[in-house]
Amino acid sequence: MENQKIIELLENMTIEEKIGQLSQITGEHYVGKMDDEMVETGPVIAADLMTGEFLYMVGSIIGVSSAKATNMVQSTYLEKSRLKIPLLFMHDAIHGYKTIFPIPLALSCTWDQRILEKVAEHTASELRAAGIHVNFSPMVDLVRDSRWGRVMESFGEDHILSGDLGAAMIRGYQKNDNGKIADDGVAACLKHFAAYGAAVGGKDYNSVDMSMREFHDYYGKPYEIALKRKPKFVMSSFNTFNGVPVTASEEMMKSVLRGMYHFDGLVISDWGAISELQNHRVAKDRKEAAELALNAGIDVEMCSTTYFENYKGILEQTPQLMREIDAAVLKILNLKNELGLFENPYVDEDAEASVILNTEFQAFSKEVVKRSCVLLKNEGMLPIDKNSKNILIIGPFSKTNELLGNWSCKGQFTDVISLKSGITALDSTLEVSAYEKFEDCPPEKLLQCDYMIVAIGECWNLSGEGHSSVNLVLEEEQRMLLRQVKETNKPYSVVCFAGRPLAMQNVIDDIPALLWCWYPGTQAGSAIAELLMGKDTPSGKLTMSFPRHSAQVPIYYNELSSGRPANETSYSSRYQDSEIGPLFKFGHGLTYTNARYSGLRISGERISENQDVKISFEIENPSDYDYSEIVVLYVQDVVSKIARPTHEMKKYQVVPILARQTVTVEFVLTLDDLKYLDNNLQLCVEPGDFKLFINDLNHPVCSIQY
Ligand code: IFM
Repeated sequence: MENQKIIELLENMTIEEKIGQLSQITGEHYVGKMDDEMVETGPVIAADLMTGEFLYMVGSIIGVSSAKATNMVQSTYLEKSRLKIPLLFMHDAIHGYKTIFPIPLALSCTWDQRILEKVAEHTASELRAAGIHVNFSPMVDLVRDSRWGRVMESFGEDHILSGDLGAAMIRGYQKNDNGKIADDGVAACLKHFAAYGAAVGGKDYNSVDMSMREFHDYYGKPYEIALKRKPKFVMSSFNTFNGVPVTASEEMMKSVLRGMYHFDGLVISDWGAISELQNHRVAKDRKEAAELALNAGIDVEMCSTTYFENYKGILEQTPQLMREIDAAVLKILNLKNELGLFENPYVDEDAEASVILNTEFQAFSKEVVKRSCVLLKNEGMLPIDKNSKNILIIGPFSKTNELLGNWSCKGQFTDVISLKSGITALDSTLEVSAYEKFEDCPPEKLLQCDYMIVAIGECWNLSGEGHSSVNLVLEEEQRMLLRQVKETNKPYSVVCFAGRPLAMQNVIDDIPALLWCWYPGTQAGSAIAELLMGKDTPSGKLTMSFPRHSAQVPIYYNELSSGRPANETSYSSRYQDSEIGPLFKFGHGLTYTNARYSGLRISGERISENQDVKISFEIENPSDYDYSEIVVLYVQDVVSKIARPTHEMKKYQVVPILARQTVTVEFVLTLDDLKYLDNNLQLCVEPGDFKLFINDLNHPVCSIQY
């Protein structure tokens, strides 16, 4: 439709119709509940408004999917709506729609922007084929506390990496780099602005408190970076920030998001968050809640109806809000136009099947699983010796296909390859048996087996929204299983499935080799089998520190230096009943390649505004594996006016290296990389020394000066 027609359409709309465009509800009000095609991802709202004219004025629908279902809702709606403005359909496909990729935290362990971009591209293709236009992803909330169930949706504890990976996904969803949406792309919704991952105590929906310096230097950074890719939407977060619910915060939404981070798209509330302003006790009633959110600049209200109920009174009191409402409605109409909905609001039901779960997506998904698993420990037990022909898989995850992880959209367990199926399919000469419990395994099987794989973890629905935990250790039954297996004196390794880092100190001595598989998605078993059997090497590296004990969180690599750094004596910054530091550090991850680093060179020891510093070295891959080595450069500002972290990740590369090859890696550090925010929120850098580290946080490789 021509732009002029969109303007005319806007002029022709009543205020009710405009507010309708800013309202989002679930789909059952139009066609009844369709269990397989509709999901509710929050508490369902009271239905007062869901009968009258409001229903045929709303602008968007959440949680309906499939070509058939979206078409049904669309046609029912259009039939009765006066202006026949098509609906937008929005959904949460955070690691795939029907082809399910590893959970985002696992994806981040690839450190590979190209992988995340492609995951998003494939997800967008499936979503569009199913009639969905907007995806509530990526989530770039910085996380440091694995009690929070939503760490599974994050990209970990580093702000730069989180921002880069979020940016890559936005590019992938929208299939474009300039804020426009390509033909089979979907609009991305960056969430949850802001600092939702810093909920006090890791308890979901809890308050967040931090200085603005801490926010802009760390928690805000991922949004700032990702926003450069121009997602169409940003979702506001549930939490309070320094005492004000973000949904009602003019400071966060207007000054920071729109002012400092230059976002000019649409802001959508989280589910029910506007009416929940009453629970925060900052609004005395629904009208005040609506007023606060409108004033803060929340354009679209998700799953509560306070805007529609109260707009008359609010606009009488604050008529100037009409300008902002018009601007928001215009953005929505423009988006619908950009998606081509005015010409064709429907999706081709016959074409859907050829896109969804297609072989290209499956093959790619398998590659991604292989790249996202992290080999945390290996005392020579992996890969499995080629002479081991009789394999016994034991544990609750040995043959289950419930390996999708939470927020797995339309993924189905029946499409998932279990560990047992994956290993069996890989090599027909193997004899593979699987038992969930040690007691179920017949003694002769135990005697015959050459090798055991112990498959343990945390059930998929123990992480995700609303699933915070105080206890990060494995269940007692699984700890017992590990001891029983150890006592057999057979060779074995452990694979663990989980949506978060767990505290493994109390079992680590019973684990000779540990492959952390997160929640891998549809291709779980086929990919993990290749890693275990040595057809390919693990190469992922952690993006979240693993605590030793539950009470050690929050734990993260870029802590500030303490006045009393941790050491073995009393009166130092440590827990008296735990070893110092995490069990597995940020950036940790083993391979089968025995790669060797050598020949470190530095272009000069001084850095300045006009003088960058280049650090280069060789990596030799003496193995038979083609793989990608993740290389990370950290900096420590030795002395500064404001205490700085012990290490800051400044550069990283994912370096493909063929078998028996040596490659040269080069990093370029600029003065900008050394700058930080002072207490006046000004970027600064002070003269002095900076230590550089490559991968290993304990040993600097050289120093430079400014
Ligand atoms: O997108 C989600 C959000 O992450 C949490 N609350 C519900 C929204 C819609 O499903």
